Amino acid sequence: MKIPFEIWYPALFKRQSRRSFLPRLPEEGIIAQLERVCREFRPFSEVRVELVKDKPKKVFKGLIGRYGKVTGAPHYMAFIGDMSSPRVQECAGYVGEAVILEATALGLDSCWVGGMFRPKAAAAHFPIGDGEKVLSVTPVGYAEVSYNATERLLKGFAKSEKRRSLKQLIIHGHIHSPWVEKALEAARLAPSAANRQPWRFSIGDNSVTVSMEAARDSSFISRRLDCGIAMLHIELGALAAGVTGRWEFLDNPGVAKFAV
Ligand SMILES: Cc1cc2nc3c(=O)[nH]c(=O)nc-3n(C[C@H](O)[C@H](O)[C@H](O)COP(=O)(O)O)c2cc1C
Repeated sequence: MKIPFEIWYPALFKRQSRRSFLPRLPEEGIIAQLERVCREFRPFSEVRVELVKDKPKKVFKGLIGRYGKVTGAPHYMAFIGDMSSPRVQECAGYVGEAVILEATALGLDSCWVGGMFRPKAAAAHFPIGDGEKVLSVTPVGYAEVSYNATERLLKGFAKSEKRRSLKQLIIHGHIHSPWVEKALEAARLAPSAANRQPWRFSIGDNSVTVSMEAARDSSFISRRLDCGIAMLHIELGALAAGVTGRWEFLDNPGVAKFAV
């Protein structure tokens, strides 16, 4: 499946993490479209997405100040990776964000949850292979119209609206063309665990390289997964500017290079 950038690029400006849901079920046609994208958007064989049309019973848990507590969602999606692949985390970020942006474009709400969930409960509704792991989940449904007190607290806790400037994120090179600017502006808005924004960018003549801000990855929620989300945003920005490219994966602290 080709990247429908004309749908996903505008969606990246609309997407926001939402954690309190209404009981309203999404229409069948909407869910069928989301299922189609889960099935057909498989750019990397090591990652797949399961859409579970059931309530996420016991899937979500809360910890610090109930951070991560998701309530009321009618459905959820699980992002599953084959852990034998060294690039599984960034691929999960890239593919998971693609499906989340499709959901956003369909009018649905979501929230990446990488820490505050129970993998066994998440995998209760689908088969999971020996080397596979549920890396993250998201509720799927319609959020309450206004933010309730808990959601406001969580949003503040993660400082959700605060994003670093490109000046802080670019570690080599400078913006020399409109496609690079569009790509990096899109990447800057990517969601990350606790809004840590661990991506840094190096700009070459015909490339943008994503690396982690730390020398080593985190053993809890992978920074490479966050960087995979930023990778998709980079590609969407580039495509929206009329530029296509290819990804080459790199070792720590590098993540991947997008060459056009
Ligand atoms: C990989 C990943 C894991 C996350 N895990 C959690 C989580 O466990 N609980 C939670 O409430 N939010 C979680 N979030 C949501 C972030 O806190 C949120 O994306 C960030 O604060 C930016 O806010 P925004 O998504 O509204 O732009 C996660 C986000 C990502 C990308």
